[in-house]
Amino acid sequence: MANLKAGILGTGHSYPEGILTNAELEHMVETSDEWITSRTGIKQRRKAAPDEYTSLFAVKAARQAVERARIDPSEIDLLICATVTPDQILPSTACLIQAELGAHNAAAFDLAAACSGFLYGLTIADKMIRTGQTRYALVIGAEVLTKYVDYTDRSTCVIFGDGAGAALLGPVEGEHGIIAARIRSDGRFAEHLHAPGGGTRLGSTAETIAAGEHFYKMKGNELFKVAVRSMADISREVLEDAGLTASDVDLFIPHQANQRITDAVARQLNVDESRIYSNISMHGNTSSASIPIALDECVEMGRVKEGDLVLLASFGGGVTWGGVLLRW
Ligand code: ACO
Repeated sequence: MANLKAGILGTGHSYPEGILTNAELEHMVETSDEWITSRTGIKQRRKAAPDEYTSLFAVKAARQAVERARIDPSEIDLLICATVTPDQILPSTACLIQAELGAHNAAAFDLAAACSGFLYGLTIADKMIRTGQTRYALVIGAEVLTKYVDYTDRSTCVIFGDGAGAALLGPVEGEHGIIAARIRSDGRFAEHLHAPGGGTRLGSTAETIAAGEHFYKMKGNELFKVAVRSMADISREVLEDAGLTASDVDLFIPHQANQRITDAVARQLNVDESRIYSNISMHGNTSSASIPIALDECVEMGRVKEGDLVLLASFGGGVTWGGVLLRW
């Protein structure tokens, strides 16, 4: 039991067909392709249609991960859906996904840790598998953020996109699997990124809706500083836990928040560009979906190979942050 380790056995991702380009945003708010590209690295983002919702993308990503892991959905013991844009308040999106997948033997719950949600989920699944209580765990990061974006607020509407990514975890032997995982948070920065309306505090009234209280509000430049510091710190911490250094990392997948944040973290860790994966230009910031989408793209492109040391680091609203180090 003490030697039991968890590893990723299959990955998947999915996103809407709809694309919102910088050129289109130029007609919606006072912005420019030049500003968005130079300040964020984003060229386009995926945007769900009015009749599309979070679990649609989550189920597609999850099916792919389960199929690639070559297990049957009935074998899944634990199903975590990391999301801050659930289909509805009740029941959890995880339970809706469970029913669609036929994962009838799983405990299912949602996890709200914004952009760090997927790494929070991986960390919990890792611990559950290590205890022997769980054999197979499905961790999904899925968001339809564009339905919480105010398309008159240029400081947020250029950033966010939609999509889902998933990983199926199970027990592994030898060198493979999760080596170190850490998650942290600091609620004192809650108002750096928040959507005050729609909950039990302000409720959903005609007034809160008219005032746009359910839309995301962000102090971007405040978050920027916390993001760089926390992602660099947690990366060093998980590397230290494993007795490794940044020079050992073959592939670094940071949360895709802003290309300038990625570059700053990479400089602090001294990881060169060739070892970093970035898809921010194509997807924008998809919150909890960003790392699992990026990871699955790396799998599909053959960018991650057996034996590679992979470092994942995230930062998000809450604020929350996390780091996971694994041997592929
Ligand atoms: N187009 C043109 N100008 C803009 C735009 C835009 N889309 N947005 C803001 N500006 C203007 C501002 O009004 C400001 O103008 P002023 O100087 O006249 O007042 C100027 O640009 C600079 O604004 P800053 O906010 O200081 O710009 P910054 O360089 O910090 O970039 C950004 C803003 C891209 C939001 C950046 O701060 C960032 O990426 N922050 C981190 C975001 C993040 O990581 N979020 C958390 C994770 S998401 C999650 O958890 C769901």
